[in-house]
Amino acid sequence: MNDKIKEAKDKIAEDLKNIMDENTLQQVKAKYVGKKGLITDLLKSMRDVAAEERRELGKKINEAKNHIEILLDQKSDEIKKVLREKTLLEEATDFTLPGRGMPIGAKHPITQVMEEIVYNFERMGFEVAEGPEIEMDYYNFEALNIPKDHPARDMQDTFYISDDIVLRTHTSPVQVRVMQNQLPPVKIIAPGKVYRCDSDVSHTPMFHQIEGLLVDKNITFGNLKSIITQFINLTFGENTNIRFRPSFFPFTEPSAEVDIECEICSGKGCRVCKDTGWLEVLGCGMVDPEVFKSVGYDTEVYSGFAFGMGVERITMLKYGVNDIRLFFENDIRFLRQFV
Ligand code: DAH
Repeated sequence: MNDKIKEAKDKIAEDLKNIMDENTLQQVKAKYVGKKGLITDLLKSMRDVAAEERRELGKKINEAKNHIEILLDQKSDEIKKVLREKTLLEEATDFTLPGRGMPIGAKHPITQVMEEIVYNFERMGFEVAEGPEIEMDYYNFEALNIPKDHPARDMQDTFYISDDIVLRTHTSPVQVRVMQNQLPPVKIIAPGKVYRCDSDVSHTPMFHQIEGLLVDKNITFGNLKSIITQFINLTFGENTNIRFRPSFFPFTEPSAEVDIECEICSGKGCRVCKDTGWLEVLGCGMVDPEVFKSVGYDTEVYSGFAFGMGVERITMLKYGVNDIRLFFENDIRFLRQFV
């Protein structure tokens, strides 16, 4: 029995020598201190030992058991340490790698074009003015020479909040609000949201307009043509062909609509320009004396011009977008093209 104890103590070191993984270690552990292990067997066989030897023998077996358990624990620690070092090495952070980029947001194409247009007018000395989106009938229609029951009201399908309050159908009421508060010279640009009860490939219930107004002494249609031509050249390119076509608006007289030559067919006529060779960009004209009267400007002293344009429409023309609703669907594949 003494030999067996000694043998177990001697062999354990050898058994553990080349072990580098936990599984094999468990097998060795079972071989010595498991249910059917060597040490366990020795303890069991104590039953057959004479009482006077038992004490001495028991002590030796326990010593051997402790010795073996210490070696097993040491080995287990060693395996864990090696494993930890290995994973640390494999998962090591490489601080020289470039950082992962955060995707940067971008301005909506309508915002981009609106800011560009406003900037182009600011360069020509216009100042930004703003007005409310929930507007009084008076500013939206009445003061702009569109009386109640006038057929011109049908030009704009209006969202009524009450009899005298509407969602503004255009940015023209800002003209009136500015002139009410300021004497000429006036040189403003008014960007903002407008609302109309309309929805199809070229209309959405909410869209954006930019209004312009210039009032001073001796302002003529020639000044209007000059400013609009400069604006078109800045927005659509230096060589864009333009025409002023007679039109009607209640708040301007004379009135005109401005067209640019259709880029798709170079003016020959196609589906996009409805065979006219031209695309409508904005409305404009000389401020009607009736509007000046409503704000108390002396029509003998002052004259001026005004213009108004749809930002979605301009963006569609500029980038060849054929459905206005694309701007509001928030499809990232569409929006990304404008980054
Ligand atoms: N307010 C007009 C519209 O929404 C656009 C417009 C036309 C504005 C002529 C003007 C203008 O200031 O002179 O259709």
